[in-house]
Amino acid sequence: MQHNIHFQNEQKKVTVGENENPSEVMNVTNSPVLFGCRTGICGTCLVNVLEGADNIVPSSEDEKEILEIMAPDYPNARLMCQVKLQGDIKVEYIGK
Ligand code: FES
Repeated sequence: MQHNIHFQNEQKKVTVGENENPSEVMNVTNSPVLFGCRTGICGTCLVNVLEGADNIVPSSEDEKEILEIMAPDYPNARLMCQVKLQGDIKVEYIGK
């Protein structure tokens, strides 16, 4: 089963396979999302999930803590390096 990650304002989409890590796939496909630590600490990979928030496995307590600090105005923010997909999503990159 494959899942698609669509990016707002871009024609591009990234397709992630069942056992693939979304951040690794996004890295090799030149997605607009940048990555730093890949361990859920730096916030470089912050995205606002516009569609399909229910298609992502819920945040861990550690991810929630970082999201509260780095994206308090975005209730659907996620750290792209931490997400596991269960379906298609559409995101807007809000990290730096
Ligand atoms: S790359 Fe650092 S939090 Fe995701």
